[in-house]
Amino acid sequence: MSILIKNGRVITADADREADVLIEGETIVKVADAIDPAGCPDAEVIDASGKYVFPGFIDPHVHIHLPFMGTNAIDDHASATRAALAGGTTTVIEMICPGPDDEPRAAFDEWKRLAEAGACCDFTFHLSVVRFDDVAKQQVRDLVANDGVASFKVFLAYKGALDIADEQLFELMEIARELGVIITAHCENAEAVDAMQKRLIAEGKTGPQWHEPSRPRCVEADGVGHLCAFAELTGAHVYIVHTSCRDAVEQAMDAKGRGVNVFVEAVAPHLVLDKTYAERPDFEGAKYVMSPPLRDAEEHEHLWKALASGDMVTIGTDHAPFSFRGQKDMGREAFTLIPNGIPGIQERVDLIHTHGVCEGRIDLQTMVSACSTQAAKIFGLYPRKGEIAEGSDADLVIYDPAFKGTFSQSVSESQTDYCGYEGMPRKGRSKLVFLRGTVVARDGRYTGGSSGGRYIPRPPTH
Ligand code: URP
Ligand code: ZN
Ligand code: ZN
Repeated sequence: MSILIKNGRVITADADREADVLIEGETIVKVADAIDPAGCPDAEVIDASGKYVFPGFIDPHVHIHLPFMGTNAIDDHASATRAALAGGTTTVIEMICPGPDDEPRAAFDEWKRLAEAGACCDFTFHLSVVRFDDVAKQQVRDLVANDGVASFKVFLAYKGALDIADEQLFELMEIARELGVIITAHCENAEAVDAMQKRLIAEGKTGPQWHEPSRPRCVEADGVGHLCAFAELTGAHVYIVHTSCRDAVEQAMDAKGRGVNVFVEAVAPHLVLDKTYAERPDFEGAKYVMSPPLRDAEEHEHLWKALASGDMVTIGTDHAPFSFRGQKDMGREAFTLIPNGIPGIQERVDLIHTHGVCEGRIDLQTMVSACSTQAAKIFGLYPRKGEIAEGSDADLVIYDPAFKGTFSQSVSESQTDYCGYEGMPRKGRSKLVFLRGTVVARDGRYTGGSSGGRYIPRPPTH
């Protein structure tokens, strides 16, 4: 089966040009200024006039199967990846988040089994290292050597649940350096958060609006500085996830100036929402409790500027889907019990187009780079993913920039009972989404049609 996409504006991280794209089976076989349909008479021709043609988007930070804070995230791999495809995301990198007693091998096998059974888009994993005894060390090495794991995740936050001791962190980073694996990290000082939570709760400050004051910007900047010091000492390459504020970005850039190999990720909620959402009355603020927390609105411009300058290189979602009823409301008595996270896997690309490109904060190529190509390069998926070139997977998004609407739970594939962006204006949406040459979404809605998502093993690239 061949498909010829004609007359589109093909936008990659490196180029923005009128071009035609020829797909055969699952692969892009030709990109050229003009491809004559007479030369490929069997091809279905799709006219993309007035549309952008993007590489399939990659979300480098999602949670789907997530046992966390006394509950489990509400999406399964089918619902979350249908949502991803509806929004133009064709590959997700999910965080494997085992508990402190779980073996890494068992966790990897469980997450992979669930994803293979349900995922509609392609997927791969960051492996969170929570347990780190001799058994775990051997298994972690084995997963890198034999199972295509090329990135670890560490939590400096969530004291007693997911965090890792400094002694172990140091050793893990030495192993990562040796193996060429990058360390992704949630950077907040867990001890400081714990102390602040106790202080606020003792003062009777129990509502969701106190979540941000319990982990202010300096707590995050401290975590980033800490991780970067370890990176400097071990030589490990590090990737700071969901960076919410200027202070944290500056810590990373200071380290970069000292020669540390550090990459900084933004996530959509920190670019669009601010802490007043978590201050909404009647406990509605709980919908907006995530960590690091939503900040003052003035942080938005710092983050967008960091994306435009290249200080921040990727935009993910940190999709962490907990419903309001039955999950977020577990924390009515104390904000420390509200499951942390905001859904958004479906909305990310349109949010970045609406608030980034349409507002003139970033250009289209930066959008593609941050939402697709850089994640592919950093995490060993490139050029198979994140590129429109001969030989790349035919993951493509034909995008209609003229569409105008609003974000709404009513069209969401996620199983959460709310959309964090409900009613906000939406400019642009995917007209057609191709996963390896097959149409899987149309006009912002998942259509089915894929034979299922595929696990993408990755070689260590650092
Ligand atoms: O609040 C968040 N970010 N929830 C998901 C877990 C994590 O920290 O990434
Ligand atoms: Zn996190
Ligand atoms: Zn996360």
